[in-house]
Amino acid sequence: MARPARFVCVECGYRTAKPLGRCPSCGAWGSFKEEVPEAKKAGARAAPAEVIPLKAVSEAAEERISTGFSEADRVSGGGFVAGEVVLLGGEPGVGKSTLLLEIADRLLARGERVLYVAGEESPGQIKQRARRLGVNEALELVRETRLEPLLALLEAERPRAVFVDSIQTIEAEGAPGSLVAVRNATQALTRLAKATGSVVVLVGHVTKEGTVAGPKTIEHVVDATLYLETAGLFRVLRSQKNRFGPVGEVGVFRMEDRGLVEVRNPSEAFLAERPVGVPGSVVGIALAGERPMLLEVQALAARSPYAAPKRVVQGLDPRRVDVALAVVERRLGLKLGQLDVYVNLAGGMRVADPGLDLAVVLAVYSAVVQRPLPEDLAVVGEVGLAGEVRSVPALERRLLEAERAGFTRVLAPGRLGSVEDAVQKARVSR
Ligand SMILES: Nc1ncnc2c1ncn2[C@@H]1O[C@H](COP(=O)(O)OP(=O)(O)O)[C@@H](O)[C@H]1O
Ligand SMILES: [Mg+2]
Repeated sequence: MARPARFVCVECGYRTAKPLGRCPSCGAWGSFKEEVPEAKKAGARAAPAEVIPLKAVSEAAEERISTGFSEADRVSGGGFVAGEVVLLGGEPGVGKSTLLLEIADRLLARGERVLYVAGEESPGQIKQRARRLGVNEALELVRETRLEPLLALLEAERPRAVFVDSIQTIEAEGAPGSLVAVRNATQALTRLAKATGSVVVLVGHVTKEGTVAGPKTIEHVVDATLYLETAGLFRVLRSQKNRFGPVGEVGVFRMEDRGLVEVRNPSEAFLAERPVGVPGSVVGIALAGERPMLLEVQALAARSPYAAPKRVVQGLDPRRVDVALAVVERRLGLKLGQLDVYVNLAGGMRVADPGLDLAVVLAVYSAVVQRPLPEDLAVVGEVGLAGEVRSVPALERRLLEAERAGFTRVLAPGRLGSVEDAVQKARVSR
């Protein structure tokens, strides 16, 4: 086997396998040096990146690409960012395709190019739906589910936005629809988005178990994961992860014949069917993401036929509700041991906000003693184990929202010492 030519003439670059006295190429004497392979150089590493003081770094003033929906912009952090990859998850039928068609319409209206990759439905079906929703006919469709040809097409066309409906239909390396294929397709499309600057939205179906088929495995690859969920009459878009915006932010929509309509005033929408003068109903001032929202907490207590009474919670953190129930027993002196207790956030909304603790305590108390709270009262506060009412984030903004929604009386931390105090002031005490 020939030895590698690792001796180089420093004068002319001539290479040879062994050192020579005189270079046969340029005639220089004693000019050969041995080349040391990179890996063998003592401590040789790839050149490190430059260290930059923070003050010398220019802020990435990324341009935002508005979705055309203020509710969706709120959730995405002010619109999409060029090269961003978004996973849009949700159960079948919740409205993922509808939402994307409507966002496409708004991008097209601003002269942006949008390519819709149709894996789930035929172009004919999409056209039918697009006509019902009144989507701009400039929308371009492609029925290409093979990963490689799709990548080549996107590389050549470079549209402003690419909507892949769905990621589970893309045929990549790995068994069709398998986690491996979904992950490979996502990684390849992510590289493409970064290279071309196209915004790529991947639709991902959530299975019954609550995971997008594969999505838990691709959440770390994408820049943002948004979930569309049903909340009673409404659809809620929620950011679960977001490299370019807030997490836990929510946008509220209503599904109508002509498509998704933004709910500009969620407090009013969620309180629309609130019963008045009924025990167990309390308006809490919640924080959903960054937005204050008035939500009705409902409690019902009924004599239990079971040795271990039921505790059924919907829309709230069950562990916080457990604490609230213990506070009602120990600090407010009500016996719950023989009662089944149901606690709901009315309207199907889901919020994990400790600021709703006080509403839960008062709702349970009111349900047990069978006395309603005044209808113009809204409450907010975290409740501690000693029954103390603790402060909450964004109190000022919450109070403003309550005032805006017409609640003239508010129980809030700072004005209250304890839950006993709250019960007195809410005029439900026995
Ligand atoms: N012709 C129609 N008229 C009114 N509503 C419709 C029509 N077709 C579908 N829908 C509604 O739109 C909803 C959302 O559908 P879709 O956007 O396809 O959901 P996803 O893509 O999440 O599966 C469906 O649940 C359905 O109730
Ligand atoms: Mg769909």
